[in-house]
Amino acid sequence: PARIKINKLLSSEATEQQANVKGWVRTKRGGKPVFFIALNDGSTINNIQIVADPEVISENIIKDITTGAAISVVGKVVASQGAGQSVEILAENIEVLGKADPEKYPLQPKKHSMEFMREKAHLRMRSSTFSAVFRIRHSLAFAIHQFFHEKGFYNLHTPIITANDAEGAGETFHVTNFDLDKIPMTDDGKVDYKQDFFGKETNLTVSGQLEGELSAMALGEIYTFGPTFRAENSNTTRHLAEFWMVEPEMAFYDLNDNMNLAEEMLKYVVKYALENCKEDLDFLANRADEEDKQKPQNERQEMGLLERLQFILENDFEKVSYTEAIEILRNSKPNKKKKFNYIIESWGADLQSEHERFLVEKHFKKPVILFDYPKDIKAFYMRQNDDDKTVGAMDILFPGIGEIVGGSQREERLEKLTQRMREMDIPEDELWWYLDTRKFGTAPHSGFGLGFERLMLFVTGMGNIRDVIPFPRTPDNADF
Ligand code: 4AD
Ligand code: MG
Repeated sequence: PARIKINKLLSSEATEQQANVKGWVRTKRGGKPVFFIALNDGSTINNIQIVADPEVISENIIKDITTGAAISVVGKVVASQGAGQSVEILAENIEVLGKADPEKYPLQPKKHSMEFMREKAHLRMRSSTFSAVFRIRHSLAFAIHQFFHEKGFYNLHTPIITANDAEGAGETFHVTNFDLDKIPMTDDGKVDYKQDFFGKETNLTVSGQLEGELSAMALGEIYTFGPTFRAENSNTTRHLAEFWMVEPEMAFYDLNDNMNLAEEMLKYVVKYALENCKEDLDFLANRADEEDKQKPQNERQEMGLLERLQFILENDFEKVSYTEAIEILRNSKPNKKKKFNYIIESWGADLQSEHERFLVEKHFKKPVILFDYPKDIKAFYMRQNDDDKTVGAMDILFPGIGEIVGGSQREERLEKLTQRMREMDIPEDELWWYLDTRKFGTAPHSGFGLGFERLMLFVTGMGNIRDVIPFPRTPDNADF
């Protein structure tokens, strides 16, 4: 018989036919009179049960069927007696494709710590938790493409190697093609980075935004979806050195249009996950509940994972200006238990994560879109407001996550933009191509960046950003 994937077999409920399934053994139990093998091929969170009768399958084969081994099974599909599974297979022939020495295979059928699983990132996708997480990652990426495609946006591939630091934060990784034996030096004995990339200083991109803006000023509405790199040495559960960002950029959108698009996109993809990833989400919701029960009462989630996702769909995000947010923070009483130390000194300071958490989790109790930030804490390209103090920036803050989206209306007026660049010491000659869009047919435009792994954290309920990207790049991990 032709091979059938386990998700198809389990959802069909047809019986009495011959089938071939291939996958990796999760567990083997029983013995007399038969063995039960739980087999998974990655297509679903559910395992198919294989019933192996030692009178049919030789002892030699059965001894090699251990956790982690790859096997191919041919047999008859029958209705299952067990609860929670529609069908099982009575094995007629089993071939062991690849053994997994039980003394050495790291993933045993028991609960491993997340730290342990991170060290075994090359195998962790074979676990229920991580396979669910990465199936959902696929679905969210697909939903993002579908959302923009339906709206008539074009997916634009922006470069990974570039000479610009779009955010101007100096957190770039150098890219070089230096011959290590002949590293070019300047006259005063320093490495000559000006020769990095065939004679030009380059870095890995921190954002595709600037190239995205060029494209929006031609194609109208575009989005990028690619890896971005930040050399920030922040060892937190929310930061990676390599993360994926979704960056739409739209001609003729003002800040309000920008905020509305971001809210619509987030609701669309969360709804897509609820409708299309039900089994994986149910599994992760139970897992999150279990984790939550281990925590002290005051740190537990008020809602379960599925409720939190549903809540996002049903409630409008709260739009609050930075200045209003500062007022709210000033007027709220300091928390004696120190859980939220939200006293903020003065207008103009950046909000700390405890301020953001207070606004989202305690004050508004829903996602918050903060807009009109002080210009001095934001990037050079943001559109200056008439008050001379603020820019048309917007950040979306999510419960349990903090900043999930950052964006702005862009400064489209050449004079204002170059003046701001001078104030911030950003050389005009390096960004001449960017300034050209302001010289020729400039127009109001806006865009934002969604941190894809932050979205993943929210949808999966996982607690650490290292656990929602297949192979995390952090200061302590770059091997594979
Ligand atoms: O706020 P950021 O730095 O904004 C930009 O890069 C703009 N160019 C986006 C735009 O307007 N086109 O980053 C955007 C989002 C953040 O809100 C956050 O979700 C995520 O990217 N992010 C990170 N995610 C993981 N690890 C990091 N080190 C991140 N830095 C930012
Ligand atoms: Mg930001």
